[in-house]
This record gives sequence, C-alpha cells and structure tokens, in this order.
Amino acid sequence: MSDLHLKPIQPVDGAYNLPNYKAVYQEFSWNDVEKEFSWHQTGKVNMAYECIDRHVAEGYGDKIALHYVNGDEEQVFTFKDIQEKTDHLAAVLKKYGVKKGDIVFIFLPKGPECYLAMIAAIKLGAVAGPLFEAFMEEAVKDRIMDCEGRFLISDSELVKRVPRHELPSLETVFITEGPDKCRENEISLIKALEEVEPEKNSIEWLELDDRLNIHYTSGSTGKPKGIVHAHRAMIHQYQTGKWVLDIKEDDVYWCTAHPGWVTGTVYGIFAPWLNRATIVVNGGRFNADSWYSTIEKTGVTVWYSAPTAFRMLKAEGNEALEKYNLSSLRHILSVGEPLNPEVIVWGIETLGKRIHDTWWMTETGAQLIVNLPSEAIKPGSMGRPIPGIEVAVLDDNGIPLPNGQIGHLGIKASWPAIMREVWKNEEKYQSYFINGWYISGDLAVLDEDGYVFFQGRSDDMINSSGERIGPFEVESKLIEHEAVAEAGVIGKPDPVRGEIVKAFIVLKKGYTPSADLLENIRMFVKQKLAAHSAPREIEVLDELPKTKISGKILRRELKARETVKVEAR
Ligand code: PRX
Repeated sequence: MSDLHLKPIQPVDGAYNLPNYKAVYQEFSWNDVEKEFSWHQTGKVNMAYECIDRHVAEGYGDKIALHYVNGDEEQVFTFKDIQEKTDHLAAVLKKYGVKKGDIVFIFLPKGPECYLAMIAAIKLGAVAGPLFEAFMEEAVKDRIMDCEGRFLISDSELVKRVPRHELPSLETVFITEGPDKCRENEISLIKALEEVEPEKNSIEWLELDDRLNIHYTSGSTGKPKGIVHAHRAMIHQYQTGKWVLDIKEDDVYWCTAHPGWVTGTVYGIFAPWLNRATIVVNGGRFNADSWYSTIEKTGVTVWYSAPTAFRMLKAEGNEALEKYNLSSLRHILSVGEPLNPEVIVWGIETLGKRIHDTWWMTETGAQLIVNLPSEAIKPGSMGRPIPGIEVAVLDDNGIPLPNGQIGHLGIKASWPAIMREVWKNEEKYQSYFINGWYISGDLAVLDEDGYVFFQGRSDDMINSSGERIGPFEVESKLIEHEAVAEAGVIGKPDPVRGEIVKAFIVLKKGYTPSADLLENIRMFVKQKLAAHSAPREIEVLDELPKTKISGKILRRELKARETVKVEAR
C-alpha cells in the first residue's frame, strides 16, 4: 500500500461546475439558485415538471433520460417517452382517486416501472413513498400503517409481502402487470392503461412547501419514522447535482441505490434529472461482473455508490476488473458510511480516479458535506460543507467546540432540502434542534481547514453497508421468536460492511443453543423484516447487561465487548 492515504490528494485539472469553492462559499445565496427553475417565472411548482416535462418543452425530448440494464435485457427511454408514460400513468392513478396530498407507496424492484411510478405520483401532487425491494411483511406493514397509506403500486411478486388484511387504510393496490397476474381487489396497470386515455398536462401545480415524498428511516429507539420532504428540496438537490455530481450535458450517470433509500430517490432520480442527465438503472443484485459490464455497456461517466460496494469490488480483485473497459468513468462518489482511505487508494490505483466521499442523511434531504472534484481530498475526511451550509462540532449543550475536539456534528438550520416534518411526530422533529443547530446524531472532528472527520454515532443506530438499522426494531422482532426471552442488538465492526448486525440473546427456559436454532432465529427476522436487518451473528448469553434502575439493556456494554475483541485481534 502506498502512503497516498496519509496526505491530501490533489484534484486533476478539469472544467468543473464549481471551480472555486472558497470564493463561492463567501458569496453564495440559495436565492440565486431559484432563478434556474421554470417556476421562478411562472409560479407553477412541481418537481416532476422540472425533472421531465420542462426538458421536453425546451427541446430535449429526444435525449435519453433512462437506460435500464438487467443482464442481457436493455431498455432506453427518452425524456419524451418518460413524459408520455408518466402522463398516462398519472391519468390512471387519477381515475382511481389519487389526488394532491395522498400518499402513494411504491413497492417495486429497481426497474423502469419504479421510476415511472414515482414521477407519475408526483405529477398529481401525491406524496411518493418508495419502499425498498428487500422489505418483508413487517417492514412494509409498519410503514404503510404509520401514515395510513391508501394507495400502493407493486408487482405480483412483491405484493405477496403486503399484509392487506392488516392494513385497513390500504384501499387501492395497483399491479404493474396484466390481469392474469392480479389477485382479487388488485388493479392491473396494463389493463387500466389500455382503458384510460392518455392525458396531456396531468400536472398539479403546487406550492414549494407542499409534500413531495416520504422515506421511513430508523433511529436508535422506536419504529422507523416517516421523514417527509417538500418540493422546495429541488433547489438544493439541483445545485448539488451540478456542483457535487458535477453533471454536464453529455454525462451518463449511475447511482446504484434503490429509490426506497433516500439516495436512490434524491440522487437516483431528482438531482440527475433536474440537471437533465441520462440516468442508468441496473436491475438485479450486486455482482462485480454485472456492475462493471453496466459501466462499459452504458458508458457511465459519473458513478455514485457506497463504501461497502467499493470494498466488495476491491475484494473481487483485478480479474473481474480487467475484463471490462471502464475508461468512460470520469467522476466517482460515495455516500452512506465512512469511506476508508484504503478504498480511496484502491480507486486511484485500479480505476485511476479519486473517490469523492459525501455526507448527508435522510433528514437533511440532500448532500451537505462533500468532496468536490476541484478540491483536495483528505483521506479519512467526509469533506467540507457546500456553499450555503454552515457546520460546527458542538458540545452537549449545542455550543461550538474548538477545532480538533470531538463532538456532535451540527448544521446551522435551515437549508432548502431539510425535512419538512416527521410524519405525525412534531416532538421527534423538534428533538433534532438545539440553539438553531440541527443535530445529526453523528460525532465528528473539524480540522483547521474546515474538513470534517466522522467519528461514529452518538446513539445506538447501526450502519450496515450504508443501510440504517434501528436496534429496537430487530430486538422487537427477535423476542417474537418462541425461543427468545431477551435480545440486545448492536453494530459489530466489519471490514467489508462497516458494521454487521449482531444479536445477543437470552433463550427461554427449555431451549438449548444449537446452530440450527440460531439459524432458525436469524431466518425469522430475515423473513419478517428484511435481509439486511437479520443478525449475521447471534450469541447466546445467560443474561444481558442492564441498567440497575430502569432495567434497560445496555447496548453500549455489548458493543464494547465486540470492539475490544476486534482490537485485540
Ligand atoms: O451516520 C451517518 C451515515 O449515515 C447516516 C445517515 O443515514 P441515512 O439517513 O440512511 O442516509 C444515508 C445516505 C444519505 C449518517 O447519520 N453516513 C452518511 N454518509 C456518511 C456517513 N457516515 C460516514 N461517512 C459518510 N460519508
């Protein structure tokens, strides 16, 4: 390994969209960005219009908007195609009662239908609620139930994980396939599209603060919370697409995340389409050959992924890499978990490119701390705040600490993409703020140049492969298993996934630990909740460490045991 990771890595010369960070930081105002949107003149607001219809109106209808690849299958859609298909789909949704403000859950695999459904729902002023394709019954139920979702767009496979009998609010379920694939009370979209005339200009004009989408996200306590964003977020999402993704007219852009995660929506759909980029959608699961071949086949120039994916590619070695021509790549970015210096070195040595870390959260709605292509990267740092954003490291009372000290990463409120609300939970929303600062829950250190270094979480939230997992949710599921009396769940450090979910359990009387039993418990969580939430390790203890007074499980103590084990190796 070279010593690259010890010193800043300088940018290569290029015509970047933000060439002079420091100067722009001094004078930038979010108001300047508003001029870029058609609503600045017309007063008519809708994210879907700015992403699609506007480009058609401005003469870019024939430009490729979406290139879908799944193994040997490929489909290509122009902006005009997307406009027509989403207008048509919107007409169907409208006929079945979808209107402004309704939540439309979208539970589909990563494929064109998912993207079309998102845009169609937003055209009608509905609130798009994308669900991750790996969610199982309980995870789906919790989310739809929490906000009493009335509409769902799914397919005949995933809909089997939607327990309709337990979801009285769910009135209408659309299936993307033909009537032969639909069960009772399900509407075939193929049939409905034949029956309903396409409607031009299906767009409902809105206010900037009207609701746009809802993403459920985990914390360290309670069930996942519904984080709602407003159309106003487009100001921030557009600008970071320009500055941070550095999108230009000829770019082919690939974000590897499913829209069920905030990255897959914000940087998989909105930011690139607001910047009129061609997006690539890769169906199927992670696999080095399929990923490299997608880059080669579609000519990806800008690639946004996550540390676990890069680490998995690194672990595959150069054999897979050497089979493909990846010379189209010009800009690579990462998000979701700490990006190890080793991975940055791997990127330089094998892909010949720097990997640019970015930091943000579901709640923040867009990137806040980033490494720009025009600036030096300090390996191990998440970068610096974008213009328009002020960050600080704060003590427990919300007072800024000097550089070099570890504390709570805070962001001066507010900015255009910040969450509009936590669904029906004002108390939770308010709990994020202190002294005018948004408190992220992350711990960080600032250096003298303003670079931010991630130091971990201040709570028990688990980050496995960039996916946010609440220990409470997993613990609740574990104790539903007939053999489990108590459970404590933590994130255990892992070289590939950052952290893995590890469960400590106490068995009920009459049960003895065995490999079969533990596997059965693991599968129980996997089948009910989601594969990524299922503990990769389960350890049986006689008792769990608890606080003396309230008897709460001390996850911190469980975590300390694991960290000590790793360090001792
Ligand atoms: O702990 C931070 C981590 O992911 C959390 C946010 O997770 P989520 O809402 O799912 O959003 C992920 C993608 C926007 C943060 O509180 N995180 C995110 N980016 C980074 C990170 N940790 C370290 N480095 C990052 N670049």
